[in-house]
Amino acid sequence: MDYILMHKNIPVALLNLDEDTGFIQKINELYAEKHLPYGVKVKNGIADRASLNDWWVDRSIPASRSGIVKALEVLNLTSTRMLLLRCFGLSLSDQYWIKPKNSDLEWSKINFFENGFSEDVGDVLLGKLDKKGHFDFSSPDNTSDGCLKKRWKIVGGKRCLFKSGSNPFMQQPFNEVIASKIAARLNIPHVDYSIVWDDGVPYSVCEDFIDVNAELVSAWRIMQMTNKDNNTSVYRHYINCCKALGVADIVNAVDQMLVLDYIIANEDRHQNNFGLIRNAETLEWISAAPIFDSGSSLGYDKIASQIIADSGVECKPFKKKHGDQIKLVSSFKWINFNALDGVEEDIVSVLDRAGEYIDETRKNAIVKSVLRRIDNLKRMSSTDVDHSDTTDGDVETDAPETYNKKH
Ligand SMILES: Nc1ncnc2c1ncn2[C@@H]1O[C@H](COP(=O)(O)OP(=O)(O)OP(=O)(O)O)[C@@H](O)[C@H]1O
Ligand SMILES: [Mg+2]
Repeated sequence: MDYILMHKNIPVALLNLDEDTGFIQKINELYAEKHLPYGVKVKNGIADRASLNDWWVDRSIPASRSGIVKALEVLNLTSTRMLLLRCFGLSLSDQYWIKPKNSDLEWSKINFFENGFSEDVGDVLLGKLDKKGHFDFSSPDNTSDGCLKKRWKIVGGKRCLFKSGSNPFMQQPFNEVIASKIAARLNIPHVDYSIVWDDGVPYSVCEDFIDVNAELVSAWRIMQMTNKDNNTSVYRHYINCCKALGVADIVNAVDQMLVLDYIIANEDRHQNNFGLIRNAETLEWISAAPIFDSGSSLGYDKIASQIIADSGVECKPFKKKHGDQIKLVSSFKWINFNALDGVEEDIVSVLDRAGEYIDETRKNAIVKSVLRRIDNLKRMSSTDVDHSDTTDGDVETDAPETYNKKH
């Protein structure tokens, strides 16, 4: 069936989508090259179908999403791509959608930023609705990325993302709150998270940081537009790409992200967990996105002794080791270490809310490891560090963590 790929009210391309597989079979016409999803390449006026398909499929819930097999069974669908077609591909992280060719649908009437949406798919994804039946599929949950169980809900007129953690510690929601508290202390632009409990399960909640005007473009997509040569580090490539787009202060924004990730020992800052914001109409690049999704950190899947020993900590997106990645920071001068005084009280007060999931030994281990990393940072900031960014120790692949599928 033919659909028009739309960017708000702007027709971008005429596509033929296979209703059985959910794949783009053909790009019949390109109307607005500049409005193609960023990172999709065009050669001689023809958009690259494979990369547009990658973008489209990336829009669907990943196969690694916790509980997705059961959810698809309840929804009576064969793949998460089918969900895309049932909500016109609408999302709460950008303004793209697909319009059936001869329909008179309008963006203003259907977008989820300004219109309500159904809670059916969210209920199924969280395992709250497990009977087959008639579902209303109009939901931004059909296009949400990431491995953890999650759903969008409108609370007090605000679009909020509810996200769970993984067994056995369910630590990610609490980590999100701790990371946002540390970011606030350091004046780092970030998404604020809080905790809610539902049916004995903790969730982090944050507001949508995207609105009807500006979209999130992931670092992965930013880096697709230009090829990286083998002598250029992943870090330098990202900085170069952002500078070419005119994003002022990108070095500072990345410095902030790297420092926060060092303090919390973040293990999953993959290239879809940070990026840039651009205006969907003018295509003007606005800024780095505020820091979000910092939950896979603070030894979330490790036992207390491993947390204390700092063992097996992964690092992304630039270097494989935090010790190497922190050396990419161009300046530590902006860090107000005094603002971190008492951070242990923040950490404990958040973890105290985890009840039986997190015991005292674990809390102490987390506090101890954070304080040690802050001390390391203090030392680094007072001595000359080598800010070279060679390709040594670079991350080679970029894949999100997958979680224990049983929760
Ligand atoms: N507050 C927000 N506003 C708008 N979009 C958001 C927000 N939070 C997350 N997103 C979008 O939803 C996606 C999934 O969310 P998030 O990264 O928090 O989930 P996750 O399951 O932890 O992901 P991962 O697979 O990286 O572990 C993000 O990559 C981003 O595109
Ligand atoms: Mg993520």
